[in-house]
Amino acid sequence: MDQNSFTPILLRWFDANGRDLPWRHRHDAYAIWLSEIILQQTRVVQGTAYWQRMLATWPTVDDLAAATEDEVLKQWQGLGYYSRARNLHTAARQIVALGHFPDTYDEIRKLKGVGDYTAAAIASFAYGIPVAAVDGNAYRVLSRIEGIDTPINSTEGKKLFKEIAQNLVPQDRPDDFNQAMMDLGATICTPRDPHCDECPFVEQCVARREGRVADLPVKNKTVTVKERWMTYIIIRCKGYVALHQRGKGDIWQGLWEPFLLEGKKIKLPNWKGVWTKTHEQVKHVLTHRILWADSYVIDMEERPSLPNDYIWIREDQIKDYAIPRLVEILWHP
Ligand code: ADE
Repeated sequence: MDQNSFTPILLRWFDANGRDLPWRHRHDAYAIWLSEIILQQTRVVQGTAYWQRMLATWPTVDDLAAATEDEVLKQWQGLGYYSRARNLHTAARQIVALGHFPDTYDEIRKLKGVGDYTAAAIASFAYGIPVAAVDGNAYRVLSRIEGIDTPINSTEGKKLFKEIAQNLVPQDRPDDFNQAMMDLGATICTPRDPHCDECPFVEQCVARREGRVADLPVKNKTVTVKERWMTYIIIRCKGYVALHQRGKGDIWQGLWEPFLLEGKKIKLPNWKGVWTKTHEQVKHVLTHRILWADSYVIDMEERPSLPNDYIWIREDQIKDYAIPRLVEILWHP
């Protein structure tokens, strides 16, 4: 389909059926950027509360840039993919150094944590720049309507779908076009059990006509999932517990955790105290990992000697530290 046949139908559908989402009432790039980073891997329902809380804490990009990384990670706790929070913080400082929020696609794209999709979303929503924001929804909608089976995660597929979408973006309403594609994908052209009878493109849809809706989009299988075995020991001594902050180059960078042993067969330290096994084989699934976790609590009279990156905090202070969801689960039996 071309812009004349596709876009007016999409926009008419959007005017009647688009979702009323809070960031759509904002036209300042800062609030929009924040919403897009949160929504990269988080559902609207969960992301909304985080977005509102972060805007209340840091009303301007200067406020966010002035926060510490620990404060940002703490607010991010529960959203997962913590590199988003660290990149957000880095980008806030980039913006402050620049002196203003970047206002072209290429300049926005240079911000840490901002890829092609996010740059296009911000450019169109904040500045009305006619550039297509191609997210998972857009891939699905376009692959089905056009009946295209080029894998959406191949170099060729990404280029192809971006070209198709860019040819459909209207000069006058690029922001509504991008939101409309998202909404159509999120509410009608869903991954499973799409609502084709409510779709404005039911007549034109190639996948529908050829009975291929369930087979599109095509995605190449990627990396294998790795397993890891983790044993956490919550060391408790006179109301205090030991924590340390995770380092670079691994999951959960910058988050805090109790004493950890890794491996399928580990040997517990011979510390004197009252040991309690609190969890066994808790399965925790991350994007490219399956974690298997055991946990213990040991109550001790004397603090054991630990590597010097450990700190001791009062157990009720744990709420001030950003901890991985898995640790939160293990901590509360
Ligand atoms: N997901 C990512 N960006 C979004 C937006 N602006 N509206 C709804 N869902 C989204």
